[in-house]
Amino acid sequence: MRKKLLLGNWKMNKTPSEAKAFACASHEMVDFAVKHNIDCGVAPTFVCLATVLENRNPNLIVAAQNCNEHDHGAFTGEISIPMLKEVGVSWVILGHSERREYNGETSEKCNEKIKALLANDMTPVYCCGESLATYEAGKTKAFVEEQIKVGFAGLSPEEAKKVVIAYEPIWAIGTGKSATKETAEDTIAFIRGVLKGLFGEVSEEIRILYGGSVKPENIAAYMSEKDIDGALVGGASLEPTSFKALIENLAA
Ligand code: 13P
Repeated sequence: MRKKLLLGNWKMNKTPSEAKAFACASHEMVDFAVKHNIDCGVAPTFVCLATVLENRNPNLIVAAQNCNEHDHGAFTGEISIPMLKEVGVSWVILGHSERREYNGETSEKCNEKIKALLANDMTPVYCCGESLATYEAGKTKAFVEEQIKVGFAGLSPEEAKKVVIAYEPIWAIGTGKSATKETAEDTIAFIRGVLKGLFGEVSEEIRILYGGSVKPENIAAYMSEKDIDGALVGGASLEPTSFKALIENLAA
């Protein structure tokens, strides 16, 4: 049985004081999530990680939005895995479509980062998903299959099962045009099939999230689908009231 997971991706939002206010408001809602056997977490910007870690309910997962695959060196502007580990971060989002588009993040690069994170006992959240043009051309499955195969290249089944996947169709991100639960399930079940081909039965243990205009009003519908294990949420994860409603409706 895969444990449900709600992750908030804050993207480039919130100053440290705003992030602190959210963390201080997280205590009761995260207790509620724990009681309902739900994992939940947020991914603040790098400068907000420490204050969220210090002020949150200790069961709130805190993820970074990126990391570098090297431990240290001449990589101006980058943040390494040992740096994240020392401040107490144990999860990292990789390959978000915005980073693929604006920062040249490739599936090959994500594969290096996934391996580096797993070597440090950290949890990668690997994002995949197609553009509107790919979707309209009916090429979604071939596209995400390639992203999965490259991202997971060289992993053992034991390693693969520690990775969380987020399927986020780009046309559904921040547009209010969420994928129907059937469309999301169709692609996510397909991804699980690809994982089964690569890693066998552990594919049943890998958590796969849906992301793209998830709101408190539609999260329960996604959760009713058998292969969808939770959500990666942008806009609706920013305010404590909305994050709390997401948890409650996910638990329902
Ligand atoms: P929205 O929930 O704002 O559509 O963003 C989704 C997303 O990109 C999460 O990573």
